[in-house]
Amino acid sequence: MKITIVGTGYVGLVTGTCFAEIGHDVLCVDNDERKIKVLKSGQMPIYEPGLEEMVHRNVASGRLKFSGSIEEGTAFAEVIFIAVGTPPGYKGQANLSYVEQVGRKVAEHMTGYRLLVEKSTVPVNTAEQLKRTVAKYSRSDIDFDVASNPEFLREGCAIDDAFKPDRIVVGVESERAGKLLQAIYDPIVKKSGCEFLQMNIASAELTKHASNSFLAMKISYINAVSRVCELAGADIEQVAHGMGLDKRIGPRFLDAGVGYGGSCFPKDVDAFVHIADHLGYDFELLKEVQRINHSQREHVMKKIQHELWVIQDKTVAVLGLAFKPETDDVREAPSLYFIPQLLEARARVKLWDPVAQEKFKELHPTLDYYSDIVECAKDADLLLILTDWPQVKGMDLVKIKGAMRCPVIVDGRNLFDPEDMKNRGFTYHCVGRA
Ligand SMILES: NC(=O)c1ccc[n+]([C@@H]2O[C@H](COP(=O)([O-])OP(=O)(O)OC[C@H]3O[C@@H](n4cnc5c(N)ncnc54)[C@H](O)[C@@H]3O)[C@@H](O)[C@H]2O)c1
Repeated sequence: MKITIVGTGYVGLVTGTCFAEIGHDVLCVDNDERKIKVLKSGQMPIYEPGLEEMVHRNVASGRLKFSGSIEEGTAFAEVIFIAVGTPPGYKGQANLSYVEQVGRKVAEHMTGYRLLVEKSTVPVNTAEQLKRTVAKYSRSDIDFDVASNPEFLREGCAIDDAFKPDRIVVGVESERAGKLLQAIYDPIVKKSGCEFLQMNIASAELTKHASNSFLAMKISYINAVSRVCELAGADIEQVAHGMGLDKRIGPRFLDAGVGYGGSCFPKDVDAFVHIADHLGYDFELLKEVQRINHSQREHVMKKIQHELWVIQDKTVAVLGLAFKPETDDVREAPSLYFIPQLLEARARVKLWDPVAQEKFKELHPTLDYYSDIVECAKDADLLLILTDWPQVKGMDLVKIKGAMRCPVIVDGRNLFDPEDMKNRGFTYHCVGRA
């Protein structure tokens, strides 16, 4: 089938490439001309494991193309996925201006039936607005449908998630739209055996916000328990392990640390709270999730302050700028909280990350970046771990200790065993453990 994807970012590029990989003809559209130029030249605007080879393979086969023209995208295919950003608005509500813009442009250019699919994460009832917009800006004799198909992929393992999803959720209100989406996903459903869930549009939209907010809640819950552990002399790793073996709870998202970040959880929880409020429900539970997440960062910052006493003129080596391993995405990453705080307190910061430095440099161009962990740790008074990259977990602790001015580690990801670190001569601060 022919498919247009509008928005060629972390979601759009992965989705479009995976659709091409299973045999569809895909045109990925973006209004960022620079991004389209980069892609046309065979380079990648983002880092996602395995993506580059797959893009090259599908471009070579002629099944994957790129364009800066929404007009071309509208003409290309009957089904148009909207995968543009939905960043936080000024009061925490989702900023839907990019979604609206795509709806309007498609409406202006379409000459026959089109199915517009919301793949971007949007608040419940967005489809109603999108439908109104398309109807307003299109010719009245042209038939169209709007559908919801929320995306659940995780950066860092997005390709695996696309081919082996836990479930595919679609929200439709016409048989035609349901059949088109079923045909698109059929190869993935057949191969992975995942469930293809068809529901009404509002339910599909809500499933996404409810899922992400639940996961954020799990993280805030374990972080709150970690605080009690610190006060009670318990070990959060042992507690989480004991909890996670209960099948009703499960082991994932029970890692205490510096709290959740990234381009999804913070804004999606915000947007869910906001839309619930707008609909007449005060989602106090999620407000507390947000408060705990913020307070966890402050708590780790206090550990740094307590250890260094005076931060001014101290050297802090920061390991990990991305919000999680295997991605270069720094949106709402913990590094964007800690590094400005350290700079404000007049520390010298040295930064290491294997793939996210370029994205971080766009925000902080003049800081000191290192490609080698030991070089980064050299002469540091404190080493701060913010991302659980395997390279950090596997770093040579003897060399790190030898390089640092003071062997002090504040580990926001609980990567090491406190007893072992003590035996190695480190002052080791972590989260939720004695
Ligand atoms: N990143 C994730 O892990 C993830 C996972 C699931 C869902 N989502 C959701 O998917 C959506 C996209 O997220 P992302 O991380 O891919 O964002 P992104 O910022 O990486 O990509 C969005 C792209 O849309 C383009 N764009 C914006 N307006 C446009 C327009 N009018 N016409 C054409 N292109 C336009 C931008 O230039 C950008 O390249 C968001 O709603 C997000 O919440 C993201």
